Amino acid sequence: MSEASNSRPDDGGAAGRADRAAQRRALASRYALLPLRLFLGVTFVYAALDKLSDAHYLGGAADAASFVSQTQAAKAGGSPISFLLGPALDHPTLFALAIAFGELAVGLGTLLGLWGRIAALGGATLSLSLWLTVSWSVSPYYLGNDLAYLMAWTPLLLAGTPYLSVDGYLARRAGRDRVRGLSDEHVRRRALVDGGIAAVAIGGAGLLAGSLTRTYGRDEKAAPKQSAAPVSAAPQEAPSVAAASVPVGGSAQVKDPVTGDAVYILQPKAGQYCALSSVCTHSGCAVDAPKNGQLYCPCHSSRFDAATGAVVNGPAKKPLPKYAVTKDGDKLTLGPLQSQA
Ligand code: FES
Repeated sequence: MSEASNSRPDDGGAAGRADRAAQRRALASRYALLPLRLFLGVTFVYAALDKLSDAHYLGGAADAASFVSQTQAAKAGGSPISFLLGPALDHPTLFALAIAFGELAVGLGTLLGLWGRIAALGGATLSLSLWLTVSWSVSPYYLGNDLAYLMAWTPLLLAGTPYLSVDGYLARRAGRDRVRGLSDEHVRRRALVDGGIAAVAIGGAGLLAGSLTRTYGRDEKAAPKQSAAPVSAAPQEAPSVAAASVPVGGSAQVKDPVTGDAVYILQPKAGQYCALSSVCTHSGCAVDAPKNGQLYCPCHSSRFDAATGAVVNGPAKKPLPKYAVTKDGDKLTLGPLQSQA
């Protein structure tokens, strides 16, 4: 008797602990995809608003950070879908806005868990397109972000967003409707209509947020000192800009008359001018305008010295190609290429 009564509480305690541990494990498995979903949703919303607020995103071919320049670089870089890039270059504003608003729709759908599989399919399609274009020439392949994003969308594509989501709410309500004896057809139609209303409402809110961001949130700080000074020379002549448009620490952008690549004319120190190619020597992305004495490549975070073009931080190994610059009165003229990467 005493042995039996002593062992019961122990067994009960052990069983209770095992039970609680099993419940915790079940809970962890249930919400295992939540961190990934939050990350992808927030990142895609952020990426969309970042594009829409970037004063350079819809810039022309002379702007190294524009959609046009990135698409041209992808085409020149041997993208396997370069034959599809012609329409994007013919209608760059349409495609650039479609990508930004597409990212916004995917991000919001993922965060709220509305039609989660469709949102994940949209995210995977965008990531696949960016991998086959912008990231295609990245070497080694694992440095290309877009391939990692493509893989990250796969679990959500397979599992959907059944928990803490609009999809979950609609599924639970559909279950209750079935218990109440409503027909499958009725339940399906109700879920589709309500999901559609929620999608229109969220899409409208996204469109409004994106449009407001585009109108009022333009980030001129992205290139505070970069001049929009027009190149004053004819295409065959050496491009030039007014010296006043290149402040100390800043830059103006011109085009290499031979290759058409964007080139930064910079003034890293007072009275000291230089010109550097904007094409990153790692995998050909366009580096940002100079900031704090360096040019930053947004693709894989290489940094280059704004005075010499030397690599400050890899993965790029070679310096940015350097051009001669001559100053004549208030005019800075791009000279020939002095050093090749
Ligand atoms: S393209 Fe990879 S760091 Fe610039």
